Amino acid sequence: MTHWDDPKALAEIDRSGMSKLLREFPEQAAQAWKLAVDVPEFERLAICGMGGSAIGGDFLRLYLARKGLSKPIFVIRNYALPPFVDEKTLVFAVSYSGNTEETLSCFEQALGRKCPLIAVTSGGKLAQLAQENGVRLISIPPGVPPRAALGYLFLPLLKSLKPLLDADEIEEEFSETLEVLQELAVRYGEAPEAKNPAKQLAQAWHKRIPVLYGSDHLTDMVAWRWKAQINENAKSPAYAHALPELSHNEIMGWEWPEFQTAFVYTLLRDLEEPRALHRRFELCRKLLEELYQTVLEVQGKGEGMLARLLSLSYLGDWSSYYLALLYGVDPTPVPLIEEIKKRLAAR
Ligand code: PA5
Repeated sequence: MTHWDDPKALAEIDRSGMSKLLREFPEQAAQAWKLAVDVPEFERLAICGMGGSAIGGDFLRLYLARKGLSKPIFVIRNYALPPFVDEKTLVFAVSYSGNTEETLSCFEQALGRKCPLIAVTSGGKLAQLAQENGVRLISIPPGVPPRAALGYLFLPLLKSLKPLLDADEIEEEFSETLEVLQELAVRYGEAPEAKNPAKQLAQAWHKRIPVLYGSDHLTDMVAWRWKAQINENAKSPAYAHALPELSHNEIMGWEWPEFQTAFVYTLLRDLEEPRALHRRFELCRKLLEELYQTVLEVQGKGEGMLARLLSLSYLGDWSSYYLALLYGVDPTPVPLIEEIKKRLAAR
């Protein structure tokens, strides 16, 4: 019997309650949608953040680009703002805890360069600095791991930018997204393995190293999110790459027989992937099938791009959670991440 069929064993492993946070994600999305703010005019958009606080910026960049927003959008995971970030660049400084030093450093530089600036945080030094400097704050609820707050770290930013897009279309897409997520919360949370793709993925990944392939059409950063969720929830190595680039280098590593039992490949597809990417995905799948016993393929649910993006991301949240249960580790704590932060703060 696997842990997920035994509620007592499950509660013993998921001691910190990650499953509850996953189940509540649709409600979080609904709350997050109410937190939008007015944004000033801008020429470029920069979203600064790290780890679980940066991925919402990636989703924003992908979504806005696919919707045809012609302004350049950059996600900055670093201490330093690039030189092009100036007073015509709208900067979102995003840190769930409010205490991440890279994000605080970018915030201070953005203040110095007189960028229009919005802070997104649940508290910490970022909230304090925003208040002291009269910076607009999107204040989000504290008390959960940053990676479980993706709704709060992505959706208020998207809704704030609604005036630049087709407002009706976005609202329709958001309503569909909520419906899809609500349905998936029940399916991924309750369905037995035979009917539950999240449990099936976890079984296929168990005791192997998951490699996740997206494409730069929509799913590359979802693959990255899955990788990070597997790392943090299941404490397992995982790797992500994207088409078309991976077919120019990474595929050469597929052939080495000794590695073929170590890795398991999962392709993250999208129903609107452009023809050229579609062909490349199909060819890659065929080559992988010739070399490996198991090649997995998944796709987001829903018609709108937002539902497809967030539902695919949500599947990675649940499957990494189930992988943690298979390994018998509490999904929530991230002791090595905390240790690095503690040692940096002590210097
Ligand atoms: O998932 C995590 O805990 C990390 O990736 C954090 O998000 C990252 O270290 C940045 O911290 P914060 O999100 O508080 O800015």
